[in-house]
Amino acid sequence: MFNNNPDLQSIQRSDFAADFRWGSSTSSYQIEGAAYEDGRGESIWDRFCATSGNIRDRTSGEVACDHYHRWPQDLDIARSLGTNAYRFSIAWPRIFPLGRGDVPNPQGLDYYSRLVDGMLERGLEPWVTLYHWDLPQAMQDRGGWANRDTVDAFVEYADVVSRHLGDRIKHWITHNEPWCTAFHGNYEGVHAPGIKNFKTALQVCHHVLLSHGLAIPVIRRNVPDARIGAALSLHPLKPASESMQDAAATRRHDGLRNRWFLDPLHGRGYPEDVWKILGENAPVVQEGDLAIIAAPTDFLGVNYYFPEIVADAPGAGVMSTRVVETKDVERTAFGWEVSPDGMVDLLNRVARDYRPAEIYITENGSTYDDVVTEAGSIEDNQRRSYLVRHLLAVKRIVDMGVPVKGYFAWSLLDNFEWAEGYLRRFGLTYVDFQTQKRTLKASGQWYQTFLGGVQ
Ligand code: FCB
Repeated sequence: MFNNNPDLQSIQRSDFAADFRWGSSTSSYQIEGAAYEDGRGESIWDRFCATSGNIRDRTSGEVACDHYHRWPQDLDIARSLGTNAYRFSIAWPRIFPLGRGDVPNPQGLDYYSRLVDGMLERGLEPWVTLYHWDLPQAMQDRGGWANRDTVDAFVEYADVVSRHLGDRIKHWITHNEPWCTAFHGNYEGVHAPGIKNFKTALQVCHHVLLSHGLAIPVIRRNVPDARIGAALSLHPLKPASESMQDAAATRRHDGLRNRWFLDPLHGRGYPEDVWKILGENAPVVQEGDLAIIAAPTDFLGVNYYFPEIVADAPGAGVMSTRVVETKDVERTAFGWEVSPDGMVDLLNRVARDYRPAEIYITENGSTYDDVVTEAGSIEDNQRRSYLVRHLLAVKRIVDMGVPVKGYFAWSLLDNFEWAEGYLRRFGLTYVDFQTQKRTLKASGQWYQTFLGGVQ
């Protein structure tokens, strides 16, 4: 039914610029484990996982991929793939176990210092994310991102990390997917801290964006040659029908899903059409905040997974919209629609409407139910096909003149997939969570061949 069997030779690394960044992505809570080692403080994810019913398989990131101890092996895999960049995140509670304090935890800083040295030794350019969702629980106890003090704490944390690691890290991502931080975590309650309040989520959003803007000059002061951006989860949208109602609903949905982040980051403030609908749910914005949020960046990170089909739904939440599950489309095991064309549409739109100097695809990937064969291999043809087709789409976008300068596959390793626990594997590398054995999947082998890596 779907052409999910692309010619594996249809794309070559030489189709892209020589300085194109090829990488893979991970995040601290999803891979590190060692949750209470070397002075790490509790994070909101430790707390969230400890509450029954929050994680589908009742697991946590306490051990995860044990990357904290096994990182040399994992970086060897990244090198063997032939990648020239690696995106990872720092666990804030390893640096400030209580969120803030006079003295950062030296063991936490040492760990990341060794990790970054390990990347450089292997020819992997470090791309760090400061916040990939593991807020110190102590900050949540004081209101979390809904409390404006958390913004200052984040800036202190960004200051310390950039002072210690800025001699070696030149690529800085302030936040990963602020939409998820705000809405999964504080409106839907399906992610830590598990709050269900629309108004809170909007205030969280504002503070996350504000912390991004305030951290930028601090990082630049510490790292004069830093290149800084945020990684947004963006979605191409289509109306469920040709009706005017669905078209208007799609515009509203776009307002909160995409423009709510893109507009203020690009100096346009919050979209007025959405602001009006929000009414008393609108966040408290102080004078000067919008100028801070619009601090110039060097690139935009886009995490692309799937498009959404939107219908008008009077009475469905404040926005009166609904995401519709259409039949007859190809989906991953997560139910996410597979749409390389959607990525082309999305990146064209972002480039046209916002003109970022550079775009990096900071995440893109898929989950399928992997099976280990008797011979011990993982023949994940669907994931390989997904990867090939999305790289073909990246090539099309580059050829259209959109300044896409790099691609980071999610993920280097199977890992702890948040509320889904270990039930969703996204890795190019299979992880046996009983033995911690790593095995490159067929998709990883394809990426390796494509990149000219060495086995
Ligand atoms: C993104 C997250 C990442 C991972 C992928 C599958 O939304 O940034 O941590 O969970 O989805």
